[in-house]
Amino acid sequence: MPDPRRLGGRVAIVTGAARGIGAATARRLAAEGAQVLLADRSPDVTATARSLGARSMELDITSGNAGTALARTAMDVFGRIDILVNNAGIGGSRPLAESDDDLIDRFIDTNLKAVLRVTRDVAPHLSRPGGRVVNVSSTLALAGYPGTTAYAVAKAGVAQFTRQLASELGPEGILVNAVAPGVIETAMTEKHLLNDYYLKAIVEPTPLRRAGRPEEVAAVIAFLASADASFVAGQVIAVDGGWTTARNPPRAPGQATTG
Ligand code: NAI
Repeated sequence: MPDPRRLGGRVAIVTGAARGIGAATARRLAAEGAQVLLADRSPDVTATARSLGARSMELDITSGNAGTALARTAMDVFGRIDILVNNAGIGGSRPLAESDDDLIDRFIDTNLKAVLRVTRDVAPHLSRPGGRVVNVSSTLALAGYPGTTAYAVAKAGVAQFTRQLASELGPEGILVNAVAPGVIETAMTEKHLLNDYYLKAIVEPTPLRRAGRPEEVAAVIAFLASADASFVAGQVIAVDGGWTTARNPPRAPGQATTG
């Protein structure tokens, strides 16, 4: 259960917060007492923020001044920034043979380059000591899996960026970590989760035999953003029902339960 005081007095920016994992994260941080600025390129971010009594900003993280604009808004409105959650991202990439230049550029630009640039421009404003950066990587960054090459490579870049930045900002008292979600029920995955082959190939081998919920990722992000994670730095924590480290065989015919 969220502790309504754990993030009291803290100010957080969450990108990609109109829906999915980002919206769940903004909700969780607000429930723990933080003031949150929700950013997204979708105009839906206004309604999501309003439902939380929070502030919003319509912004494309790939635009050159995204980080500067985010930092300026948060500083003008709240006077401080403690937490940056780099969540915005796109899905649906292809195997390498089917990846044209435009696709590769889109995935690297959105899922990797924008994360570096936004962080570079927000980081100078993060509180010292005590600031937090939480990046959203993916289990596809941690092991090879066929079919979504540019996405996986960009997310692997985010994982290494997390370790790199943890060493650069750690001495200033800023902790940098990441979550690596497995399959989570959001708009990004909803069509896959209706596909029997996908369920058999990805969801069944997960030890917990199910996809995750955005709130389950948000809870780990909130932990990493809090003082409870005061000695955790440079980690990429899988939130994946065990998929990265343990694979189960498909259920035997007639087997209804787990195990
Ligand atoms: P989603 O598609 O439901 O939400 C992503 C949000 O990011 C959307 O509101 C979208 O408008 C926003 N966004 C995309 N590009 C943007 C841009 N250039 N500027 C500003 N906002 C932008 O996706 P979901 O599932 O909530 O994903 C959130 C993050 O989690 C992404 O980085 C994704 O790669 C990552 N992830 C998701 C997994 C899943 O199974 N759903 C698994 C592993 C990682």
